[in-house]
Amino acid sequence: MYKIVVMVSGGGTNLQSIIDKIESGYIKNTEISCVISSKKDAYACIRAKNHGILTEVLEKRAFKTNDDFAAALLDTINKYSPDLIVLAGYLVIVPEIVIRAYESKIINIHPSLIPAFCGPGYYGLKVHEEVLRRGCRVTGATVHFVDAGTDTGPIIKQKAVYVKNGDTPEILQKRVMEEAEWEILPETIKELAGKPLNNR
Ligand code: GRF
Repeated sequence: MYKIVVMVSGGGTNLQSIIDKIESGYIKNTEISCVISSKKDAYACIRAKNHGILTEVLEKRAFKTNDDFAAALLDTINKYSPDLIVLAGYLVIVPEIVIRAYESKIINIHPSLIPAFCGPGYYGLKVHEEVLRRGCRVTGATVHFVDAGTDTGPIIKQKAVYVKNGDTPEILQKRVMEEAEWEILPETIKELAGKPLNNR
């Protein structure tokens, strides 16, 4: 069984797309061992519980220092020995000790075509606001491996989405999720889970 840990901070629609595609059999031989949330009231936790998936909450502000938080996060992840860690709308910078311990085993979904509209400060609606401000006609989403930088790791998959006249950041965000994010994130997990062990 391919074991994944999904890390979230918000609504959890990307988490839902993974759950749905495991339950439908599109993603095979894969289980979500745990959902780790950076916020105790994230709706993503309710989605997990609705499907009988274990949740853990690690709020950074509950720790005295960044190092304490990093150590606790690493301990929590290690408990599940995941084959893959999926950042699905996780809004906390992943500590370096976690990135080092799980090199090439952490993926992130970003709501633009990297290298456009990415890096520090580009998250959530901000990305779509900037796409519209710049007058782009095409945007999209990217799944990439996570390295020590912000949105700098190797790109795995991208999908383009058209910007339409009259789009607001909210409308565009929804279209990017529906047409790109909810497709390419489960697709990536399916492909990684399907690879032979020595080739992941
Ligand atoms: C998504 O747009 C994702 O690309 C970004 O944060 C948002 C999370 O949405 N990193 P959700 O919590 O999966 O609904």
